[in-house]
Amino acid sequence: MRCLIRTIAAQKETLEYRDAEYVVSEISLGAAGDCTVHLEGRGVLPRHALITQRRDGRVQIKADGGAALLINDKPQRSAVLAKGDTVRIGQNLFTVIGAPFGFDLALSLAIEGAAQEADTLEFELGPMSLAEAGWSRRRWAWLCVLMVFSVGLILPLIWSLWPGEPEARPAHWPVTDNAWSSGPLHTAHRIPGLIDDCGACHEAPFVQVQDKACKNCHEIADHVARPEKAPAFANLDCAGCHREHNEPQTLVRMDEALCVDCHGDIAQHWPEKSALQNVADFDSHPEFTLSLLQQQVGTGDAAKGDANIEWKTERIPLNHPDLAEHSNLKFSHAQHLNADGIDGPDGTQVMQCADCHQPQQNGMLMQPIQMEQHCAGCHSLAFEATDPERQVPHGSPQDVLRSLEEYYARLYAIQGGPVESVHELSRPAQRPGKPPKSFYAAMKAWADERALEAATTLMEESACHSCHEVTVHADKKDASRWTVLPVKLTEVWMPKSRFDHGAHLQIECGECHQAAKSEKPTDVLLPDLKNCKQCHGGEGSNMKVSTGCVGCHGYHQTGIAKGQSQ
Ligand code: HEC
Ligand code: HEC
Ligand code: HEC
Ligand code: HEC
Ligand code: HEC
Ligand code: HEC
Ligand code: HEC
Ligand code: HEC
Ligand code: HEC
Ligand code: HEC
Repeated sequence: MRCLIRTIAAQKETLEYRDAEYVVSEISLGAAGDCTVHLEGRGVLPRHALITQRRDGRVQIKADGGAALLINDKPQRSAVLAKGDTVRIGQNLFTVIGAPFGFDLALSLAIEGAAQEADTLEFELGPMSLAEAGWSRRRWAWLCVLMVFSVGLILPLIWSLWPGEPEARPAHWPVTDNAWSSGPLHTAHRIPGLIDDCGACHEAPFVQVQDKACKNCHEIADHVARPEKAPAFANLDCAGCHREHNEPQTLVRMDEALCVDCHGDIAQHWPEKSALQNVADFDSHPEFTLSLLQQQVGTGDAAKGDANIEWKTERIPLNHPDLAEHSNLKFSHAQHLNADGIDGPDGTQVMQCADCHQPQQNGMLMQPIQMEQHCAGCHSLAFEATDPERQVPHGSPQDVLRSLEEYYARLYAIQGGPVESVHELSRPAQRPGKPPKSFYAAMKAWADERALEAATTLMEESACHSCHEVTVHADKKDASRWTVLPVKLTEVWMPKSRFDHGAHLQIECGECHQAAKSEKPTDVLLPDLKNCKQCHGGEGSNMKVSTGCVGCHGYHQTGIAKGQSQ
């Protein structure tokens, strides 16, 4: 039984009261020192009365032995106490007041004279009791349970089980299954079909979100080794790295631990094959490895003029002594970037990187080098000194030779005979009538000869030769005489990370690429890890740009930024 007894004492003008709380099985009242409530004054026996709680929870008072109790001013041996009842023992007047929440009984005790003030005090205590408002605690409890039940379970349940498509649900339902949400969805997911349909991700009740729910909408390239190949991935589901209901946090975990958990000790997670070096943090990051295109002997038929070359990507560490790009294109950056300038169509000009390297539309990497766009302005494919405007197409030897044959045949036809120089054409041909057959034969022979001569110069001495590796099959007298080795410039050197030129516009190209000093096309001009470390620190670095693994790598590797794997 928990009981509150408030003793009221009159002090001149003011009233003073003291509250005492008793948690006991019974309360004894009397003059004896060991009584629970010690009473004084005339007419109080050492053991006067006993307050106990009955089985039904109500509280009763009983006189002890021959003592007298005045209950509601009537002498009684015992009574069940209710609010408002008074019990007089000698000069002590007990009044039953409303018990605060959690108490079984509250009494005010006044020594005669101060008792009349008890009412005011009782008023202060009153509103603390539920019962006071006319409702038993039990009724309140039931009402609450019912409300929680319908708001938290029944209404949302009806909503979520509504037959048909999600759109068929009533527009103004008081409580939807949003009530069960553990937080707002990420903005990227606040879209029709997700915001109003928890089931799109939570496919089954009481089951964690399954990967296949995410994959219904997301076609993602998995991590290199995931999942069947590596045991480490068996327990790694989408929700492990992608948090929902966590706005404004990102949908993606970006911390280094995400990657370092495995990459700190890769062998442990990849027992079959562990060629990768451990990466415990950015400080201990290994030197970069590049993906370089390398020529291999292919299946082509060299006799037919096929280059017989295939390209394969090889991974070569950036600090490897034999690192070289074999693109079959001849080119010297140093020659073109000469600080004193280089001859161009409009006189000497100093070339800038941007004359040849323009960023791709997304700004990340550079557009591929194109002969017509970047070189042809200075490197003409003219073949006839007397007709510098005429150029051969930039194409295969076949195309080149055919266009030359056509050119010379036309000259012969117009002129009506062999011609030494284009200037002779100022005298138009004056031969009426149909020419004899022998004319065409002579024309073809002359044109073919001139074309082969011009092509040989282009291919073996001048234009083509200056930029290309051309193999000459000296015994041949047609287009199969030359094989122009295919040109393949590596476009993505670091496919397993991403790099954004757009984020580094403030930095001179030369800070990262030693192009101005490069004489040979085989030079590899890519920056190493040390370069990046000038400015980038790992996660949490505050001296430098803080970049976690995900800043430079995607988790879903293929096609993360470059549309290319390997
Ligand atoms: C875009 C997918 C997605 C949608 C839509 C979605 N959730 Fe979640 N929810 C998740 C993910 C992921 C988790 C965390 C992984 C887990 O616990 O299964 C999660 C966790 C929860 C949790 C915590 C459960 C736990 O195990 O920690 C509750 C509750 C929850 N979601 C309720 C909802 C409700 C209600 C809705 C509809 C308003 C909803 N979700 C819509 C993806 C989603
Ligand atoms: C009903 C289809 C649907 C489902 C199911 C779904 N998503 Fe999405 N998710 C989307 C759409 C639409 C976007 C927004 C795409 C965009 O912005 O390009 C998105 C965006 C994302 C993004 C990119 C956020 C960003 O900031 O760019 C991530 C990460 C993502 N979802 C992960 C998940 C995961 C994990 C799950 C499973 C728990 C999941 N999604 C389930 C439709 C879905
Ligand atoms: C080990 C952690 C990890 C797991 C597991 C994982 N993701 Fe991701 N996910 C990431 C990280 C990190 C990014 C951000 C990559 C970035 O910035 O390029 C991301 C990005 C995404 C994106 C944004 C678009 C994109 O391709 O970059 C989508 C969508 C996505 N994840 C869906 C999924 C789905 C679906 C699954 C489950 C099949 C899943 N993820 C499992 C870490 C993870
Ligand atoms: C569950 C373990 C695990 C997690 C988590 C993980 N990786 Fe990997 N990662 C691997 C394994 C296994 C390989 C393949 C090892 C091999 O081929 O020898 C790999 C390969 C790689 C590679 C090399 C790719 C290639 O083609 O050679 C890179 C880069 C990489 N992970 C980066 C990351 C980043 C960044 C993260 C964090 C977003 C991450 N990994 C998270 C296990 C993991
Ligand atoms: C006249 C045109 C031209 C100019 C100007 C030019 N480049 Fe290049 N660049 C090329 C060509 C052609 C290639 C491909 C052949 C090669 O690899 O050498 C190339 C390749 C590159 C490569 C990647 C290939 C490698 O070998 O590493 C980088 C990096 C590069 N250039 C940087 C620069 C920088 C930086 C500048 C300015 C300082 C610059 N380039 C100026 C034409 C040019
Ligand atoms: C602004 C004019 C200009 C542009 C544009 C230009 N070049 Fe040049 N290039 C020259 C000049 C001038 C020479 C020096 C010729 C000489 O010394 O005979 C030269 C020399 C060369 C040489 C050496 C030729 C030799 O015979 O030694 C090669 C190879 C070459 N350029 C390739 C290219 C390529 C490839 C491009 C396009 C990516 C290009 N150039 C763009 C002006 C240019
Ligand atoms: C100024 C240097 C230059 C000259 C001169 C030049 N080319 Fe090229 N050529 C290139 C470059 C750069 C590429 C690669 C980019 C492209 O296709 O535009 C290329 C590509 C080619 C290709 C395609 C190779 C492949 O595998 O895709 C052929 C064929 C070719 N050139 C033939 C010729 C012939 C024939 C000539 C002479 C008539 C010639 N080129 C003159 C620079 C030159
Ligand atoms: C400043 C950018 C940057 C940061 C930060 C970074 N990396 Fe790298 N990482 C690279 C580059 C660039 C490569 C070479 C990529 C390539 O060859 O395609 C690389 C290569 C790797 C490789 C080896 C791939 C291979 O085939 O050998 C792994 C594994 C790797 N990183 C993991 C991590 C992990 C784990 C973290 C976080 C602790 C991290 N990286 C942080 C830029 C970064
Ligand atoms: C902060 C260092 C940095 C700066 C500054 C920088 N680059 Fe690069 N560049 C790189 C890296 C790293 C790569 C390799 C990217 C890849 O292949 O993944 C690259 C690749 C290249 C390539 C070859 C691949 C491609 O994109 O075609 C060219 C060309 C190039 N850069 C030119 C330039 C030019 C021009 C500038 C100046 C406008 C420049 N870079 C400034 C770091 C830099
Ligand atoms: C001279 C300083 C400098 C150097 C050197 C440098 N960076 Fe950066 N990098 C920056 C700055 C500044 C940013 C922009 C940071 C931002 O926007 O928050 C940046 C951004 C990036 C980003 C985008 C990060 C993100 O979270 O979006 C990548 C990836 C990156 N750098 C990779 C590299 C790599 C790889 C190298 C070395 C080849 C390198 N950087 C060298 C200064 C540098």
